[in-house]
Amino acid sequence: MTNMGKDWLIKGGTIIDPSTGAQEVADLLVEGGRITGIAPSITKEGIHAIEAQGLWVVPGLIDIHVHFRDPGYEYKETIETGLAAAAAGGFTQVCCMANTLPVNDTGAITFYMVEKAKKVEGPLLHPVGAITKGQKGEGLAEIGDMVDQGAVAISDDGNPVMNSEVMRRAMEYASHFGIPVVDHCEDKNLSAGGSIHEGEVSARLGIKGIPAASEEVMVARDLCLARQTGTHIHIQHLSSRGSVELIKWAKELGIHVTCEVAPHHLALTHNAVESYDTSTKVNPPLRTEEDRQALIEALAQGIIDCVASDHAPHSLKEKDVEYDLAAFGISGVETALGIVLKLVNEGRLTPMRAIEAMSTSPARVMKLEGGSLKVGQPAHITIIDPEKTWLVEPEKMISKGKNTPFTGWELKGKAVVTMVEGKVVWREGD
Ligand code: DOR
Repeated sequence: MTNMGKDWLIKGGTIIDPSTGAQEVADLLVEGGRITGIAPSITKEGIHAIEAQGLWVVPGLIDIHVHFRDPGYEYKETIETGLAAAAAGGFTQVCCMANTLPVNDTGAITFYMVEKAKKVEGPLLHPVGAITKGQKGEGLAEIGDMVDQGAVAISDDGNPVMNSEVMRRAMEYASHFGIPVVDHCEDKNLSAGGSIHEGEVSARLGIKGIPAASEEVMVARDLCLARQTGTHIHIQHLSSRGSVELIKWAKELGIHVTCEVAPHHLALTHNAVESYDTSTKVNPPLRTEEDRQALIEALAQGIIDCVASDHAPHSLKEKDVEYDLAAFGISGVETALGIVLKLVNEGRLTPMRAIEAMSTSPARVMKLEGGSLKVGQPAHITIIDPEKTWLVEPEKMISKGKNTPFTGWELKGKAVVTMVEGKVVWREGD
């Protein structure tokens, strides 16, 4: 890894900054870890230059949904390997889910994550604390203590909060701290025993399905609770057309809701499961082409605010088994940008909207500094080569989780430099 200091002159790149709407060729100056200049031509002696002609210079990408498995499941991923994989994926900041062992339901676990990440020269790590103790859906976790130690939100992701009264109290509590409730929407009674989307493919393969309604009833419930409490809720990994319709309705009503979609739901449908490849097993499941198209359209229109990878690394032990028995999850932090750029290359998203969904919007949702190239901002910057083609090869992935359904895909567009507070934490080819 090359890291020659905190001062850089990034020359001649195409600046794409959704926070200002700027899309223009310019030089960008970084000094002391902050952005100090942006102009058509900047000259400065004795500073390291990055030649960025033909490249995009964008606000550092932010992934607000990753599972780094640390503490407790370090054989699947550690904070170190997760951060290294995120940097290679172009991410400068990540938000880590709480389904670790022990669950991140106390200030002590939040502290452990923050302190471990500080020792890594990589993307910034922001823990998301659990909503309930042990993610059991019963008593509330130590929300205040976790916020004190740096938690930016609460979520029982991996599990829903089935009890509506508990969810209501969690929302009221979160309001006091000004943090969002980050919401895994799944009715466990409807999804019980299911492995893939309930539909034509599940019927044909004889695998028990998970109906779209299992997500939608919980999206509807939590929109009602958000309306009641006035709390900001952020709905995770939206997978169905019905969920999009509900969010659109809620936003029109002025309910404080934001939401995200995962790259795999934008790129794949339940037909991918016909391979019986367990790397296609994910929760919520891959759904129909109609759902996929609705998600892409909603992302383009801004009804869906962000893309978040739901990076869920697993080991072979959990994935090299029968489909029914395999763990849910896709290792996605290194392919997320490439999949989103595929939609750009197909003309479904503008470059500006893609970067907004992967940087400016996630910063806003989690109230993080960043998502902007304005002078004075911390120098969290991603440089993307939009022409670089590359093959998805699990054995070359930095994450310990090789569970990708995109093996062998040729993608066009890749992060070539990832910079955090002026430090280069990833440079393609180094
Ligand atoms: O597929 C998933 N995997 N969905 C989740 O909600 C949790 C995640 C995990 O932790 O593996």
